[in-house]
Amino acid sequence: MTILEQKKAAAEEALKYVKDGMLLGLGTGSTADLFTEALGKKVAEGLNVKCVPTSEATRQLAERLDIELIQLNDEPVLDLTIDGADELDAQLRLIKGGGGALLREKIVATSSKMMIVIADESKKVDVLGKFPLPIEVVQYGARATAFMIGTVGEWAGCTGKIELRKDDNENPFITDNGNYIIDCHFGEIKEPEKLLSGLSSIAGVVEHGLFVSICKVAILGTPFGPITLEPKE
Ligand code: A5P
Repeated sequence: MTILEQKKAAAEEALKYVKDGMLLGLGTGSTADLFTEALGKKVAEGLNVKCVPTSEATRQLAERLDIELIQLNDEPVLDLTIDGADELDAQLRLIKGGGGALLREKIVATSSKMMIVIADESKKVDVLGKFPLPIEVVQYGARATAFMIGTVGEWAGCTGKIELRKDDNENPFITDNGNYIIDCHFGEIKEPEKLLSGLSSIAGVVEHGLFVSICKVAILGTPFGPITLEPKE
């Protein structure tokens, strides 16, 4: 099975959790897109769901597939969110935001009774941090905020390059919310809870890509078919 086939199998497996009448959060990224496409086929066959997209890209995809979209403000509690991840560990702590959508992804996931992550098994790590941790910051004072992120990182035992994300034209990447993303190449995040508490205390930080105690089930594509994981204590 190719990686694409593994991701597709994980997306198909996640469909089993979707029931008629549910309010769903739709994630962002290549794996989440595969789920949205599979969901679109079910909708075309008559499945009745209402969905909140976590990014403008996902909104456009869902609209093309004729999936009914709603505003989170109209339905503030969703049944289920299905999303991808950049990394996950055995406790199903995640790094997200590689696609720059972490703020809406976290708002939607934490507004849901359940979040399921779908990914290929290469995303599973022993220690989070090989994937650079994305942090969404306001544009004002972004350099000062980046400096403070470095200081907080050191306090939490994390060091490494901290850089402003650029787009393909070498301009600062702008999120759907009009903010910047700072990517932190920490290598290993041994104490994610300590790091996130420090990051949340920085005024210029809008949100960070550490998702802790949010994901309850992970479906990982493997060469032998999808496996389902629950958090290990
Ligand atoms: C988007 O901001 C991210 O959180 C994605 O969920 C993450 O980048 C996973 O994307 P892929 O499924 O494309 O690897």
